[in-house]
Amino acid sequence: MTEDAPLPPSAGGVPPPFRPIGELFRPGREGERVRLRGWIHRGRSSGGILFWQVRDGSGLVQVTARRDALGGEAFDRAEHAQVESSVEVEGTLAADRRAPGGLEVKAHALTVVGASDAFPLFADQTEEFRLDHRHLTVRSREMVATLKVKSELLQGAREFLEGEGYWEMTPPLLSGNAAEGGSEAFTLDYFGQPAYLAQTAQLYLEALLFPRERVYSITTSFRAEKSRTPRHLCEYTHLEAEVAWAGMEENLRLQEQLVTHMVHRVARKREEDVRFLGRDPQELLRLVPPFERLRYEDAVRQLKERGFGISFGADLGTAEERALTQERSQPLFVTHYPRAIKAFYMREDPEDPRTVLAADLLAPEGYGELIGGSCREVDLPRLLRRMEEMNIPREPYEWYLDLRRYGSVPHAGFGLGVERLVRWITRREHIRETTPFPRTPSRLTP
Ligand code: 4AD
Ligand code: MG
Repeated sequence: MTEDAPLPPSAGGVPPPFRPIGELFRPGREGERVRLRGWIHRGRSSGGILFWQVRDGSGLVQVTARRDALGGEAFDRAEHAQVESSVEVEGTLAADRRAPGGLEVKAHALTVVGASDAFPLFADQTEEFRLDHRHLTVRSREMVATLKVKSELLQGAREFLEGEGYWEMTPPLLSGNAAEGGSEAFTLDYFGQPAYLAQTAQLYLEALLFPRERVYSITTSFRAEKSRTPRHLCEYTHLEAEVAWAGMEENLRLQEQLVTHMVHRVARKREEDVRFLGRDPQELLRLVPPFERLRYEDAVRQLKERGFGISFGADLGTAEERALTQERSQPLFVTHYPRAIKAFYMREDPEDPRTVLAADLLAPEGYGELIGGSCREVDLPRLLRRMEEMNIPREPYEWYLDLRRYGSVPHAGFGLGVERLVRWITRREHIRETTPFPRTPSRLTP
């Protein structure tokens, strides 16, 4: 709904241009005439004075308006504007010790651009209600801070990878083959053919290695995860890289440097948001590579000593991962997993064929797996044997097998779950708090 109330004549001359609210707080601007636009964050009025807190993408400022300065009609209209109405404000900057940031705008003109109905969200509503209104909850300070952190992490990833000579690729999300195990792939009808939504870009990145040698992608991956856990989404942001000529150690080094770069950038550029979300940025700046490497076999031994009923060949579940990382402040690589519990494309360890040259990077403090990576199996007969063992049909993967036929190179790569990283950094209880419109088994809207 739009209410077109023309700006009353300004205090003479051309009105100043609209400026981001964050800029008003630069020192020495008191007395300046300013114009801003945003949303009413809070509002009240008493004794012929109206108080608003107005928010835009850059900050929040107190706005006051006197009935005699605005004129009765404009004042009444402004007084009736509800929280979340979008507004334009023209006024003079003044110091005010009681206002947030010590500054307020004394308004001489207020316009309601889009009036708001009574805003349905307030404190202490149930989680379900807030999720049902996610299209409105995304305006909350917590959500905004989290999404800023996420955006900064993605910029950090691109900055680092581009600096290291990686090329960003745009692999397809629709495919004729499932890549990470068929049972967790979403299937759909593609003009009468069965198709899958991407679980990983890896196989395509492997093909794109040949023209480029170092490639990465940031795409959406889909997992038909029926398990309801605080770290699984059905749709997530997947940062993947693939490197020609790389072995295990180069792969791990790339991962730890990348994660450190991303995390440090957030700690420096989003200090305030990180702190608001409950994490001390200094803690993040203490992240330093190399991260410890622990062989799966040794992890199992440690866990047994601590009373876990686990033996070689079992996957590490949430409880096991938590036990290994709860007391740590640095991430941990668990390496050399048993072949039987890992994907078909992982390279067998020539020194211990029970295992593969793979590693998961586990977040500190029990937040669980952040990255899964491995050296890729390039030996065609071994790869075919693995596929047979795992009952993977050969036909849809013929194109992938070709990559081993035409000038194959040793190579390695990994995939990082961006929401998992955000969850650890921002200490969110549930991964759905790290993405604006979470997709979980029970939620497809909004
Ligand atoms: O360990 P995953 O399944 O590995 C792969 O998909 C490889 N093909 C990646 C590669 O080598 N290019 O997934 C990689 C990462 C996990 O470590 C985790 O952080 C994240 O993706 N992830 C999820 N994040 C949120 N919700 C889910 N359901 C996730 N499943 C995996
Ligand atoms: Mg994994």
